[in-house]
Amino acid sequence: MSRNLRGLSLRKGLTDSMYEKTSDAALSADDLRETNLISVARGFMTGNAAILSASSFYDFLDPEHQGKKVFVCNGTACLVSGRTEEVMRELLETYEPHEIGTMTCLGHCHSNDAWLADSEIHLCKCGEGRKIPEVYTNAEKPVLTAPAGDLKEYYSTMAVLNKNVEAALRELEASGLRGRGGAGFPFHIKVRAARDAATDGGKYIVCNGDEGDPGAFSDKWLLEERPHSVLFGMLATGIITGAGTGVVYIRGEYPLAIKKVREAIRTLEEMGIAAGDENHDKDLFRFHVVQVAGAYICGEETSLLNSIEGLRAEVRTRPPFPAVYGLFGKPTVMSNVETLANVRSILEEGGAA
Ligand SMILES: Cc1cc2nc3c(=O)[nH]c(=O)nc-3n(C[C@H](O)[C@H](O)[C@H](O)COP(=O)(O)O)c2cc1C
Repeated sequence: MSRNLRGLSLRKGLTDSMYEKTSDAALSADDLRETNLISVARGFMTGNAAILSASSFYDFLDPEHQGKKVFVCNGTACLVSGRTEEVMRELLETYEPHEIGTMTCLGHCHSNDAWLADSEIHLCKCGEGRKIPEVYTNAEKPVLTAPAGDLKEYYSTMAVLNKNVEAALRELEASGLRGRGGAGFPFHIKVRAARDAATDGGKYIVCNGDEGDPGAFSDKWLLEERPHSVLFGMLATGIITGAGTGVVYIRGEYPLAIKKVREAIRTLEEMGIAAGDENHDKDLFRFHVVQVAGAYICGEETSLLNSIEGLRAEVRTRPPFPAVYGLFGKPTVMSNVETLANVRSILEEGGAA
């Protein structure tokens, strides 16, 4: 059943994505919601139940979420910090109580002071007399998007890679790089498996930026402040495996990370190194960013793949593993943000270093 739905989703692929169409329809006004979801089902020639059940999977698509204007972080670190939700509600006195919701988690576990409003993270110093002495937003936060030095030079390692993919793979193996998403699986084994896998239509590199574990915000930092190190890792893995498309899957609780990665992709487009959704140059590696609508389980790799496809984001049985049967049923390297961010140093300095 899910293979059939996957095939229907693949017909329109990522640029006319079933997941994104479903999310948009689910965010329609109350009286239009169901009609719009059913029209997505028609557009993809699938049953209404498939789209309705996919849309009901995510917190942010829940009708109850819609009337809220501000979301206070209630992740574990914030809850145990002494900054209770009640204190935050008091601080946000310009909002009506029914306009205040919660999100788990906004990734400010180190400061315990974040809320999200108008797609911006707002921060304050909550400990100080329960006032809001300093409220600042993402937009004001200075962010380093480019690596130090020249970006052209940064990506020049790619040319060397193109010439000797097998040598690059050996360096990855020598480095002993293991997945940073939790399971610690050797990265080079996945890459080799995807490289060796036969395909009847493309391969994918997927970056897992769903970072949902309590107290974790290292992926957020990398996506916001070193997006090129992540994109480089995806691009290099694409060259090694023969994949033409990379999907950066980022949780909706990280709006600044989404913005910074999109900006970095635009820079790569301008430099002619890679393509975004609007560019139809088939010879370029294409990046697509997926904004996740709030579901912890989507950090699990097979649930994540179903989510991108617009299916109900439940886990798949394995085998087959994603390296052989991944996104849209095609060979896929699915790796964590930090894992991918390590690739360039390895290729630049050698696996042993
Ligand atoms: C319930 C559950 C949640 C997970 N959440 C994440 C996550 O937020 N980020 C992540 O990178 N991996 C997460 N994982 C691990 C992924 O399934 C997968 O192993 C990982 O993305 C592979 O990348 P890596 O080899 O680079 O670690 C989760 C696994 C499970 C079972």
